Amino acid sequence: MKAPVRVAVTGAAGQIGYSLLFRIASGEMLGKDQPVILQLLDLPQAQNAVKGVMMELEDCAFPLLAGMVATDDPEVAFKDVQVALLVGARPRSKGMERKDLLAANAEIFTVQGRALNKVADRNVKVLVVGNPANTNAYIAMKSAPDLNPNNFTAMLRLDHNRALSQIAAKTGKAVADIEKLAVWGNHSPTMYADYRYATINGESVKTMINDHEWNRDVFLPTVGKRGAAIIEARGLSSAASAANAAIDHIRDWVLGTNGKWVTMGIPSDGSYGIPQEVMFGYPVTCENGQYKIVEGLEIDEFSRERINFTLAELEEERAGVAHLLG
Ligand code: NAD
Ligand code: LMR
Repeated sequence: MKAPVRVAVTGAAGQIGYSLLFRIASGEMLGKDQPVILQLLDLPQAQNAVKGVMMELEDCAFPLLAGMVATDDPEVAFKDVQVALLVGARPRSKGMERKDLLAANAEIFTVQGRALNKVADRNVKVLVVGNPANTNAYIAMKSAPDLNPNNFTAMLRLDHNRALSQIAAKTGKAVADIEKLAVWGNHSPTMYADYRYATINGESVKTMINDHEWNRDVFLPTVGKRGAAIIEARGLSSAASAANAAIDHIRDWVLGTNGKWVTMGIPSDGSYGIPQEVMFGYPVTCENGQYKIVEGLEIDEFSRERINFTLAELEEERAGVAHLLG
C-alpha cells in the first residue's frame, strides 16, 4: 500500500466541495491505489456543515480514505499537504462579473498563500478554483515566496471541457476523440478557446467546421458565458462540472497526459509574448508531475487580438490587487 497523500480542500462545506470530496476519496483524482488524507478548511460558521460532510464521507467507507481533519485555521489545513485545492471563496451571483469578486476574495488568498508558504509540503501542487481564479492564484503565489511559483495554478479546465463539448456537438463527433485544443488566458468571458490545431481522429477540426462566423459569434461567446448561463438557469454557479474539472486538472498534472494537450492556468514563463508571472491559460502536456507549455504554435492575427484582450483583463486585475502584495 502506498503512503497516503495529504490533500487540502478549502470551502469544504460549499457546493463544489460536496461534488469534489467524494470523488477524491474514491480515488478518481490520484488513482485507485493511492490513499488520501483530507484536510478540510472552511469558515468557523461552516464547521457544522463540514462535520456533516465528514459523516457522509465516513458512511461511504472508502477504502482509500486514510484520515480527515476539519478546521477553520489555514495553517492546520495546509500542514504538510502535497495537493491543495483552493475552492473556498465567495461565488458570483446574478448580474455580477467575476472581477467584482476581486476585492472580496483577494484577502483570502493572501492569508492562504502565506499559510501554504509556512506549513505545506515544499512540492505542494496548488490549484485555485475560487474566482477570479487566475488572479487569486497569482495572489497566493506572490504570498508564498519560499515555494516554487510553478506549483501555483488556476483552473481553466472547465473552459477547456466546455469547449470540447461544444465542438463535439457541432461536428457530431465524440468528445473523447478531440485532441489538441487550447484555451488561452483568463477564466472569464475573455478566454480564447482555440481549435485551430485541434484534430478528431487526425482530421483538422478547423477544416471540418470551416465557419469563422460560428467561431467568433457562437462558439467563443457560448464557452465564455457558460458560467453566467448556468447561474441564470440554476440560480447557483456551476458546481459538479467545476469539481469534475478540478479532478481532471490535478489527475493530469500528477499522473500525466500521455502527450495529450490540456489547458492549465500557470505563471507565464514569457511564452507567446505573455509577460512573466501572469497567471495565464496555456495548452500544456504533463509528465512526471510537471507541466510543459506546448511551444511553437503560430499565432495568427485573430488569435493575437483575442490573446491580447484576455491578457489586458488579467493585467488590469493584477494592477487592482498590487497594493495588497506590498
Ligand atoms: P459556495 O458558496 O457553495 O461555497 C464556498 C465555501 O467556501 C463556503 O462553504 C464558504 O463558507 C467557504 N469559504 C468562504 N470563505 C472562506 C475562507 N476564507 N476559507 C475557507 N473557506 C471559505 O461556493 P461554490 O459554488 O462551492 O464556489 C466556490 C468558488 O468557486 C467560487 O468562487 C466560484 O465562483 C468558484 N468557481 C470557479 C470555477 C472555475 O472554473 N474556476 C467554476 C465554478 C465555480
Ligand atoms: C463558471 O465558469 O461556471 C464559474 O466560474 C462560476 C462563475 O461565476 O461563472
